[in-house]
Amino acid sequence: MSTGGAILPDEVLDQAQRAVAAAGTIEALAATEREYSGRGSLIAQRKQQMKDLDPSERPAAGKALGEATARIAEMFESRRAELAAAEAATAGERDRLDLTLGGHGRTRGHLHLVTQVQRELEDIFVGMGYRVVQGPEVEDDWHNFEALNMVPGHPARSMQDTLYVELGDPEQVMLRTHTSPVQIRTMEAMEPPIFVVAPGRTYRNETLDARHSPVFHQIEALAVDQGITLADLFGTIETFAKQLFDDDRIRTRFRPDFFPYTEPSAELAVSCIFCGGDGCRVCSQSGWIELGGCGMVDPNVLQGVGIDPEVYTGFAFGFGLERIAMVRYDIDEIKTFFDGDVRFLAQY
Ligand code: DAH
Repeated sequence: MSTGGAILPDEVLDQAQRAVAAAGTIEALAATEREYSGRGSLIAQRKQQMKDLDPSERPAAGKALGEATARIAEMFESRRAELAAAEAATAGERDRLDLTLGGHGRTRGHLHLVTQVQRELEDIFVGMGYRVVQGPEVEDDWHNFEALNMVPGHPARSMQDTLYVELGDPEQVMLRTHTSPVQIRTMEAMEPPIFVVAPGRTYRNETLDARHSPVFHQIEALAVDQGITLADLFGTIETFAKQLFDDDRIRTRFRPDFFPYTEPSAELAVSCIFCGGDGCRVCSQSGWIELGGCGMVDPNVLQGVGIDPEVYTGFAFGFGLERIAMVRYDIDEIKTFFDGDVRFLAQY
């Protein structure tokens, strides 16, 4: 830098080089750049002074100054590129999501045990040619009681059992106490032959404890056609019980019972799936497990919905779904179905 030396001392370039290396950010570099090539910088001053030089010295000085200017500009340019690259790299690092920390295993949920049992029962009945129907959970007196032959004053209507809804006339609207009203709704809506099952939630005025729950589930079945007999009822229930418990040795037992909407009526029990009928803890040593009630649809009920009992007969039954699940999985508290404790539910 012999010629330029006089114009711009070599130290200036060295100094600039050091300052450029020391600038750690693009902002700091811009400040340094102003210092070395902006207005008031040594270079700018020298450019100003060119006119004072002897004309013979000007070309060499101009060339030296131009070279120095270019070198300084080049230093800044390359440092700027370096800093920009470094910043882009740290920005990538800073914005990166650390997925390794969030990697807790997530288990999938599954259907509630009662829903599983319900779906299974639906499948069994659909396999026998039944249709699945539904009715409202808030019912009127006609469907829940009256059309089922339950005259006013019948014990099943007492305040103790029924949860009434404050709607319309007093005690005319209620949470259904069983799924049997769906029988009535179905017969009102369809002509025989009728083969339906109606699963769903039912409500009674009970306090939740190990064996009682104010909310529970039932499945209702109704078959109405010409020539249906008690033998059809027995055969259907037996087929269903063998499939449900997946056991050909299951036996069914019918004992006389009373329901206002069936005549004759029976209580249905199946032989205990745990002891095969010998007697054990699950069946309270009886050898039998009660599932629900059944019977031949009372002619009065048929008449009430406009079906001629001289032409058609039918059978019906209703079981508790929790009861079936309890028997099958040896669960001794109905309460556990409604507690929502995942430790319990996840087992099934
Ligand atoms: N509804 C009865 C109850 O909740 C069960 C029942 C009994 C349903 C006899 C029926 C039947 O369809 O025929 O206990």
